[in-house]
Amino acid sequence: MYTRNPELLADKVLEKMRAHPGQTTDPLKLAKVFKVTREHIIGAVGLLRCWGYTIRADRHGHYAFVSAPDNFLSTEISYRLNTRLIGKKIYAYQTVQSTNAIASQLASAGVPEGTLVIAEHQTRGRGRLGREWYSPNKVGLYCSIILYPKIHPTQAPGISLLTAAALADTIASYDDIDVKIKWPNDILISGLKVAGILTELSAEIDRVEYVVVGVGVNVNQKRADFPDHLKDTATSIRIGAKENILRVEFLQKFLRNFEKEYAAFKKSGLQETRKKILKYSYLQDKEIKLKIGRKVISGIVIDIDRTGQLVIDTRDGIMAFNAGEVSTH
Ligand code: BTN
Repeated sequence: MYTRNPELLADKVLEKMRAHPGQTTDPLKLAKVFKVTREHIIGAVGLLRCWGYTIRADRHGHYAFVSAPDNFLSTEISYRLNTRLIGKKIYAYQTVQSTNAIASQLASAGVPEGTLVIAEHQTRGRGRLGREWYSPNKVGLYCSIILYPKIHPTQAPGISLLTAAALADTIASYDDIDVKIKWPNDILISGLKVAGILTELSAEIDRVEYVVVGVGVNVNQKRADFPDHLKDTATSIRIGAKENILRVEFLQKFLRNFEKEYAAFKKSGLQETRKKILKYSYLQDKEIKLKIGRKVISGIVIDIDRTGQLVIDTRDGIMAFNAGEVSTH
């Protein structure tokens, strides 16, 4: 079984060595366990090193696990993830055009709910309103989660909001970070954008077929890494936390938070999440302009209601909106 599947053998060898960190293992013993030859084990260790794992060999040729790379390998993401649904199945890539595009195809093909699509780099990362999401190699987080919620299409914006709450909680777990949710899809640190959410769905008039939640996070960019057009508006968690962030650990925390928020949403809509959204809300009590197509509405934000709509006190009275682009000046 393992001789035909070197990746699977490498995963299993890693699992065995990781169970006893620092302790050496004789490759012959591993060969017996997996019913392969010693050469297969040496090959598996070579593959693991290729993936970025540090595995030490002593003078007898016995191996010990030393450390794992901070790369989005499915083995690393799954390791002690402990979720029930989200990220149980993972498609991890080096470079793709857009994880949302791949996720939509996988969702149409019926992969399990909670499937995660992730890449180290995107060449055509999609942002909202036809914009591009800047996705440089190995410094950010670019992923999409596939869901099949039994909801009416009008409830879909709630999924963006629960994602925002999960992201805000994850970012807030790093010291000294002033994280805010800018309704409906942006996450800010000190007023600058650190993450964005692009929720795409396939639906009939009264039924959602699938939802793809795309999440882009600037994780380890330094100020100088941002291109000129983003320098004044973007930031990263690393800049906010003043330290390098372990991206796999960040992703795992986010997936666990997302799972909790999604479970609560399925049970009782945004009831629970709304409290968090209000706690993190960047727009509360601010004077804003909301652009919906060609229409612009001005007023003061007074609430985000139970259905996730932005409630604005306008010149024409109090109104609630479920979409649009907000500016604060
Ligand atoms: C925004 O405009 O703020 C939303 C950005 C969403 C970007 C993410 S990166 C992973 C996923 N794949 C995409 O092509 N876009 C989303």
